[in-house]
Amino acid sequence: MGKIQVLPPNIANKIAAGEVVERPASVVKELVENALDAGATHITVVISRAGKELIQVIDDGEGIPADEVELALERHATSKISTAEDLDRIGTLGFRGEALPSIASVSRFELKTRVRESEVGVLLRVDGGVIREKETVAAQPGTTVSVKNLFFNTPARRNFLRADSTEFNHIVKWMKRFFLAYPEVHFVLIHNGEELFHLPPGSLDERIVQVFGKAFYEGLAHFREELNDIVLEGYTCRPDQARGTAQNQFIFLNRRAIVNRSLNHAIQQGYGNLLERSRYPQYIMFLTIPPHLVDVNVHPTKMEVRFSNERAMYHLFLSGVRRAVQAQPGGVPSFTMKREHPSREEVQQHFRSSSGAAFPSPPSTPPSRPGDATSGQPPSPASPSQISFEYRPLPETPPKEPDASSLQSLSRGGPA
Ligand SMILES: Nc1ncnc2c1ncn2[C@@H]1O[C@H](COP(=O)(O)OP(=O)(O)OP(=O)(O)O)[C@@H](O)[C@H]1O
Ligand SMILES: [Mg+2]
Repeated sequence: MGKIQVLPPNIANKIAAGEVVERPASVVKELVENALDAGATHITVVISRAGKELIQVIDDGEGIPADEVELALERHATSKISTAEDLDRIGTLGFRGEALPSIASVSRFELKTRVRESEVGVLLRVDGGVIREKETVAAQPGTTVSVKNLFFNTPARRNFLRADSTEFNHIVKWMKRFFLAYPEVHFVLIHNGEELFHLPPGSLDERIVQVFGKAFYEGLAHFREELNDIVLEGYTCRPDQARGTAQNQFIFLNRRAIVNRSLNHAIQQGYGNLLERSRYPQYIMFLTIPPHLVDVNVHPTKMEVRFSNERAMYHLFLSGVRRAVQAQPGGVPSFTMKREHPSREEVQQHFRSSSGAAFPSPPSTPPSRPGDATSGQPPSPASPSQISFEYRPLPETPPKEPDASSLQSLSRGGPA
């Protein structure tokens, strides 16, 4: 073994890129998150050859001051947090200060940016993590990042990339997450010169129709559950609208897309036995939770989170979905649990206590693979010791119309 030494920054960045930049869709995710954190109202994403050739994200956000652009490319450099306490009150999508240096270390990278107060912009060119050029250029206020020849210097990664159609599907999945979580933002997505999405700002309801069509929207049931200062609100599909794939399953935590198998399972359980075998519910759910009750710093992609009380979250989702499905007009059979379901008050109390012994445990599922857009597969059905259902009409639950205006306000509330 040789002498112990600190690795040069571009090698350290390349190693970090292994976790942050799995495929072109990861780059799209990081760049759009940066645009959203910069307060952009218009975001255009231009892709060619499924991102293998070009990924460009153009925003009208606050821009980066000319004297800070090199810093933005340095690892652990961020404008979003500055103290250890900030980690407990994260209100931005990024905070680790590693996305740009990671991406720039495995691509030919260009950053053009202009802050509103400045007359001109600045352009920085970086090749495989090495800064080649910095020049003053004419630019609109905002930031444009262009990533060309992704993985040109990491052949193993490049060879791992799948067919263009697969890689582009991953990109679209990420874009749909942003479309849904930020309906007030104007998004455009262009692939190989073709404009595939052009979404003017609107309400969440309008956005769902824009992205998935009216028929999909009309198959959804709205619900809202509250637990102290935690709110779960969203849409889940009517049981007869469940599909053969787990594709349209979206959970957002403070407007950040997350993947959580335990919550997927809770949602599935909320349907009781109303779902046919091998059918997956479609859902779009927004959990708004005080940041100190959740740790989003579990993995560099931040898709995996840990709640301070996993069980309470499980029951919040379970009871929200159960209520939504019960409230369906049109004769969908109501159902209740064989085992007494805890009341909302009990759930609240449980959340305050740390033991949690009053509730059945959520299933222990292996952690979902971070960054894997398709890992939302529901786990296998619950064992008999877990919650089970039987059909029984519940007359006290009147059919409830979806309350579009409340969701609208949620969706416009800004990152919590
Ligand atoms: N589109 C943008 N508009 C304005 N500033 C940006 C933009 N993209 C990046 N920045 C600035 O560059 C910094 C570094 O970005 P980078 O994505 O590497 O880190 P981060 O967003 O702070 O954290 P994370 O690694 O978790 O994404 C940001 O903190 C921000 O100040
Ligand atoms: Mg970032």
